[in-house]
Amino acid sequence: MLEVSNLTAGYGDIPVLRDISLRVNAGEILLIGGENGAGKSTLMRAIAGFNKPTGGSVMLNGVEITGMAPEKAAQAGLRLVLDNHRVFPELTVYDNLRMGIAARRSDRAGFQNSLEEIYAVFPILKEKTKQRARDLSGGQQQILALGQAFIAQPKVLLCDEPSMGVAQMLLPPILSFLRNWAKSGTAVVIVEQHLKITQPYTDNAMIIRRGEVALACASVDLDKRLAQMHEARTQSYAQV
Ligand SMILES: Nc1ncnc2c1ncn2[C@@H]1O[C@H](COP(=O)(O)OP(=O)(O)OP(=O)(O)O)[C@@H](O)[C@H]1O
Ligand SMILES: [Mg+2]
Repeated sequence: MLEVSNLTAGYGDIPVLRDISLRVNAGEILLIGGENGAGKSTLMRAIAGFNKPTGGSVMLNGVEITGMAPEKAAQAGLRLVLDNHRVFPELTVYDNLRMGIAARRSDRAGFQNSLEEIYAVFPILKEKTKQRARDLSGGQQQILALGQAFIAQPKVLLCDEPSMGVAQMLLPPILSFLRNWAKSGTAVVIVEQHLKITQPYTDNAMIIRRGEVALACASVDLDKRLAQMHEARTQSYAQV
């Protein structure tokens, strides 16, 4: 569904990402981890078209979307939920959810069904339907941003640090929502620093270090592979 090959991107003359390749099939979740400043958000932005790649390609369902404007990429079925869960602060919860339908050529019944589904999973959105988004807590805004994306029904969902600004106890319900969502055939990428909490909800994992892929494995092997990587690094430092 999503195939990124040898992607290179940066800001102006400053290269940040080098040669990143990844693949996420329909129904799968890829977890991307890495230290602060590793390039995770840059990767999400480069895939979604907010940041023009300088090399490599991004394919969505066999269609090349490399460097496509973000609106075009959205029309092609790709959606990025930012780590600052940007919603429209002056709009009500309901109107924010309705904005999700702009990316979808769906009928009203489709919207109603998705709305009922999202209300069932996160009743808080139903309770606060008439309130302005700016009056919601950080966690509630994150849920709203996800709800908006859910209503847009993208083929590929990129979710940058869903835990950002969110109480930690809210992370598992958000992850379980994403897991169920993926089951309907959506390819999902979750960028997250809380690897231990997130790993069980995902299929594959990747660690980015200084703009490059440092590790890629099945999520079940992540703990073991991280430990091995850590050991190898410690040994190489010891030899210096
Ligand atoms: N708008 C920008 N202009 C120039 N450099 C930037 C810009 N945004 C990010 N960078 C740089 O690119 C590198 C990667 O940043 P990025 O935000 O992609 O990292 P990240 O892995 O998402 O980190 P975090 O965990 O803090 O979110 C960093 O060195 C950062 O300083
Ligand atoms: Mg980031």
